[in-house]
Amino acid sequence: MASMALSSFVLFLLLLALSSVLAKKTYIVHMKHHDKPTVYPTAHDWYSANLQSLSSSSTPDSLLYAYTSAYNGFAASLDPTEADALRRSDSVLDVYEDTVYTLHTTRTPEFLGLETQSGSWQGHNTLGIEQASHDVIIGILDTGVWPESKSFDDTGMPEIPTRWRGECESGPDFNKSSCNKKLIGARSFSRGFHMASGGSYMRKEKEAVSPRDRDGHGTHTASTAAGSPVANANLLGYARGTARGMAPQARVAAYKVCWSTGCFASDILAGMDRAIQDGVDVLSLSLGGGSAPYFRDTIAIGAFAAMERGIFVSCSAGNSGPGKASVANVAPWIMTVGAGTLDRDFPAYVSLGNKKRFIGVSLYSGKGMGDRPVGLVYDKGSNSSTSMCMPGSLDPSVVRGKVVICDRGINARVEKGAVVRDAGGVGMILANTAASGEELVADSHLLPALEVGRKVGDEIREYVRTDPNPTAILSFGGTVLNVTPSPVVAAFSSRGPNLVTPQILKPDVIGPGVNILAGWSEAIGPSGLAQDTRKTQFNIMSGTSMSCPHISGLAGLLKAAHPDWSPSAIKSALMTTAYTHDNTNSTLRDAASGGFSTPMAHGAGHVDPQKALSPGLVYDASASDYIAFLCSLRYRPEQIQLIAKRPNVNCSRRFADPGQLNYPTFSVVFGSKRVARYTRTLTNVGEAGSVYDVAATVPSSLVAITVKPTKLVFNNVGESRRYTVTFVSKKGADSSIRSEFGSIVWSNDNHQVASPVAFAWTELDS
Ligand SMILES: *[C@@H]1O[C@H](CO)[C@@H](O)[C@H](O)[C@H]1NC(C)=O
Ligand SMILES: *[C@@H]1O[C@H](CO)[C@@H](O)[C@H](O)[C@H]1NC(C)=O
Ligand SMILES: *[C@@H]1O[C@H](CO)[C@@H](O)[C@H](O)[C@H]1NC(C)=O
Ligand SMILES: *[C@@H]1O[C@H](CO)[C@@H](O)[C@H](O)[C@H]1NC(C)=O
Repeated sequence: MASMALSSFVLFLLLLALSSVLAKKTYIVHMKHHDKPTVYPTAHDWYSANLQSLSSSSTPDSLLYAYTSAYNGFAASLDPTEADALRRSDSVLDVYEDTVYTLHTTRTPEFLGLETQSGSWQGHNTLGIEQASHDVIIGILDTGVWPESKSFDDTGMPEIPTRWRGECESGPDFNKSSCNKKLIGARSFSRGFHMASGGSYMRKEKEAVSPRDRDGHGTHTASTAAGSPVANANLLGYARGTARGMAPQARVAAYKVCWSTGCFASDILAGMDRAIQDGVDVLSLSLGGGSAPYFRDTIAIGAFAAMERGIFVSCSAGNSGPGKASVANVAPWIMTVGAGTLDRDFPAYVSLGNKKRFIGVSLYSGKGMGDRPVGLVYDKGSNSSTSMCMPGSLDPSVVRGKVVICDRGINARVEKGAVVRDAGGVGMILANTAASGEELVADSHLLPALEVGRKVGDEIREYVRTDPNPTAILSFGGTVLNVTPSPVVAAFSSRGPNLVTPQILKPDVIGPGVNILAGWSEAIGPSGLAQDTRKTQFNIMSGTSMSCPHISGLAGLLKAAHPDWSPSAIKSALMTTAYTHDNTNSTLRDAASGGFSTPMAHGAGHVDPQKALSPGLVYDASASDYIAFLCSLRYRPEQIQLIAKRPNVNCSRRFADPGQLNYPTFSVVFGSKRVARYTRTLTNVGEAGSVYDVAATVPSSLVAITVKPTKLVFNNVGESRRYTVTFVSKKGADSSIRSEFGSIVWSNDNHQVASPVAFAWTELDS
């Protein structure tokens, strides 16, 4: 029958179309930009022509993005043979498959010393800075924005800077009028995501192909960086107070590059490309991937272009701690931010049947359990998925009506609570294991639940194991301030050493990243779970995703105070003034071990914005310094070209050792050599006629240090002076030693310019 034949023919066509769609993937293609034939008026025309020459199946639609600022090249949907054909083309430098990056999921201003009772910073006339920061634009690459959040209220803000070329893109659930003088731009980039998900996202209501934030993460990070002050902000009554971003007068531009399945490199690059053209001053990326060489690291490549145009780029270090060598976003032109705790806590208590009472944390806000003891179980099941309360692993006949102990790890903390609730449990004790140590992260659980550290967790597990009739009562203590010690380095915060360049210490600094209150999307409940129907304007989140935008906002303030400083100078100011002690005057502690932290976890230390405003001296670096650094990595010229976007990088200037880069910290890797000698240049951004003396500390039984000269005299502002530091590994200090630390501090009565030094005897010691 004709209609049957027709319908099977249509089906055949459909299958054909589907198979060609499935075979195609997104590739990022780097072009030899300087070879563009003049017959093509624009790079876009040239890229299209390159694509159309490939095969008949390459339509103009194959071109997903033509990059102009962050990258010389384009993203296209290609099949593998087309990608190979492009690879062989003379005008192509490199072709690689799109990769996926992941998100590194209010009392902060006071904690940082930004606000005293009088409302201004201690010891600084900040009115001028706050006004100047009206001109600072902070670009956030994330999951979009919830424009109705009070954090983006523009009351009292002056007109948008005329240099701004950004836009407020309308789309589903997002209008041009969603922006204002605070949220001055909002765009979304979904073509890489669209390709990777085969178009299926269209059917999912969850994804709005517009800057609308249905996840919450982007609204949280944007409002942390530059949210307007909102009085009486809180999450379900917790952390009540005024919420404000780090640079409350600065402007926000949201670039949505992250979708339900992650953040695709092609979309991230498109967002960075646009943000650079739009005219942002700071770029904030709370996301990352693994460690790749810089010429294959999309964020590093885009950030290089940004840095060259004077844009400060701040990225999260990742949440893969406390394992070593877990740090992401390690390019030296990026500020890599780890996470520490605040001096605020949300205590919750568990009272056991044996009369012991322990403290933990929680943001649970619903009906309490009362004071009647309830049976307590720790279901170890047949494997660890049960003790971790993975979905479907709990036996309702075991947990019904009970408080359940769940081990931390693998699945989301709030999900464990939902699993317990769905299996009939009435409460949860989320107990840390060795990997999470004593670090406590408060969550807005769906049932009465608290988290306890490893030591307490072990005591409770032992109690359940030995008591024939174990019971527990859970209760909740609200918000507590002035907690000691703080800050403490978060266990989850990713650690060095830097696998890509061990001679550059990473992370650079830590900032507040545990239990941070900031704006939230009303499209999703505070726990982020689909079954969470609560709506909140603010949420409390933890991660280096949260610490990164703190630094982005602070960089915005420094930029406002010192418009002539380069991104590297701003970075140096934040690093050399960071502190390495906590509020008990002890060396910073590490939540993972309970012992002292090291620069492999906290970098230069915890940021101190007041001190960063007047660092005295800075270690500056220009694009040509970074190219000399790249040349020292023995990358091929084409690989350096990929990053530096210049023709014919000839490496006539090449550091003998990547550690020679004028970086504010030192990471000495002795390897087969016993001596490392570096020259550093300090530039005076303080007073004319300043004199600095050096003080150096090293593990003296292992390393000898010589700094020459030991005194630096700066007659004028803007003057630079060099010094040389020589590190000698002593006899017997061989590769059996783990990493060791020291410091080099230049100081006078007004300023301390401090650099940590990390020593390793093989490339992977830590
Ligand atoms: C966008 O504008 C239309 C027409 O004015 C309005 O009905 C709609 O609610 C607006 N949407 C948003 C998200 O503001
Ligand atoms: C653990 O046990 C559950 C059933 O209780 C099973 O579904 C799961 O596959 C097991 N996991 C492993 C790693 O064996
Ligand atoms: C902190 O310790 C340093 C040296 O360890 C000491 O000089 C200083 O006075 C102490 N400060 C306070 C507030 O205890
Ligand atoms: C290398 O490049 C620099 C900067 O472009 C240029 O000044 C220099 O002459 C070049 N050297 C050689 C040997 O080509």
